[in-house]
Amino acid sequence: MDRIRIRGGKPLHGVIQIGGAKNAALPLMAVALLSPETLRLSNLPHLVDITTMVQLLAELGVEINMNGDAPNGGHIGRALELKGAEPASCTAPYDLVRKMRASVLVLGPLLARWGEARVSLPGGCAIGTRPIDLHLEAFKALGVEIELEEGYVRAAAPDGLKGAYVLFPSVSVGATENVLMAATLADGETVIANAAREPEVVDLAHCLKAMGAQIEGIGTDTLKVTGVAQLHGADYEVIPDRIESGSYAVAAAITGGEITLQGARLDIMDAVVDVLAKAGVEMTTGNGGVRVARTGEAINGIDVMTEPYPGFPTDMQAQIMALLAVSKGASMITETIFENRFMHVPELCRMGADINVHGSSAIVRGVGKLSGAETMATDLRASVSLVLAALASEGETIVNRVYHLDRGYERVEEKLAACGADIERLE
Ligand code: EPZ
Repeated sequence: MDRIRIRGGKPLHGVIQIGGAKNAALPLMAVALLSPETLRLSNLPHLVDITTMVQLLAELGVEINMNGDAPNGGHIGRALELKGAEPASCTAPYDLVRKMRASVLVLGPLLARWGEARVSLPGGCAIGTRPIDLHLEAFKALGVEIELEEGYVRAAAPDGLKGAYVLFPSVSVGATENVLMAATLADGETVIANAAREPEVVDLAHCLKAMGAQIEGIGTDTLKVTGVAQLHGADYEVIPDRIESGSYAVAAAITGGEITLQGARLDIMDAVVDVLAKAGVEMTTGNGGVRVARTGEAINGIDVMTEPYPGFPTDMQAQIMALLAVSKGASMITETIFENRFMHVPELCRMGADINVHGSSAIVRGVGKLSGAETMATDLRASVSLVLAALASEGETIVNRVYHLDRGYERVEEKLAACGADIERLE
């Protein structure tokens, strides 16, 4: 079980290449199921979740060619060619779905293209029960018959999907993406109201349009989709990862250094820029990247609440908590998206942080210094918050179970070591 050892206390200086967005790449790969023609995706990150999705799509009959690294031979992103041929089966098996919730994103495309799908219920994960009821209710509105049996969702639309009005009672990124993909081949018009507006949803809509889908309202909370008979192939580049960008911005801020995030896009991370500015961290665009550094000596204590886009992303909550743990003030962080996303708190407290959780809020009182400790990663973003805290700690930190980290961060120890961090992976 891989572990990472970090000896903290050194300000980081240098350049970090930002990869393609994991949470855009996963739905974009599922799009391949919608078309018999070749979809070529570029700027894909090298991540475990991407490999899992490749395995799942291959089981569902998608022909996949990996075009290796980027043209210049660097790790600037992998290109994939995917072609959705007739599947041997329309089943997404438990052993793949349990590893990666995003597997449920094959439901919509399978129903739209083949009229049937059998997908294992994803089960919960560390940050919450994470049901898929919103996905299933929306599919029922499109004329899908849903049965739950032996831990699987069995879905069928023998007469094809019919366009419908879908109103989500609460915002869901995955449910919006699933229904949007299905609606592109449905018969008639679908309106998706209270749709998620995350940049990854926008990226998906842009790719679908490039394949001939008819979608209006992209970027708003109301999407209007007019079904077409077939989607053609396309060549599409995945947007940069705004959460990876935010995570490394915190690495610069928490160590009092200065990092340039090569390829980051500030226009899709306004809320993160605003929160970091209030905390005393400046992000400015220049020479092909985004420069991040503290504006003054200390980090200010601030209040933060996670919200659906364009609000502050829940995927940055653990990272900002690590930063505020070493601020010169007190902060309140409120998590409104997931019911159990404070698993990093006890681990940060073992490193000397002063954090108290009250329901969905955590009170963080800044301490002068954190101290290294042996810690345990529990989920993807919690694990990176421990790495960030370790970079600012006196002494040595070991982060166990870093397989969580590898699901969402490409070569994290290489990228940080290149900026001067004393970090290495222990077999
Ligand atoms: C996506 O998950 C992301 N994953 C998550 O990133 C991210 O935290 C989340 O959106 C919120 O931004 C991918 O894109 C692969 P939701 P998703 O449906 O789609 C509840 C990471 O770290 N809900 O917007 O699963 C749900 O339990 C991951 O990269 C239902 O109740 O999130 C949650 O409380 C973690 N019923 C809330 O809605 C449903 O049918 C928002 O979930 C669906 C969701």
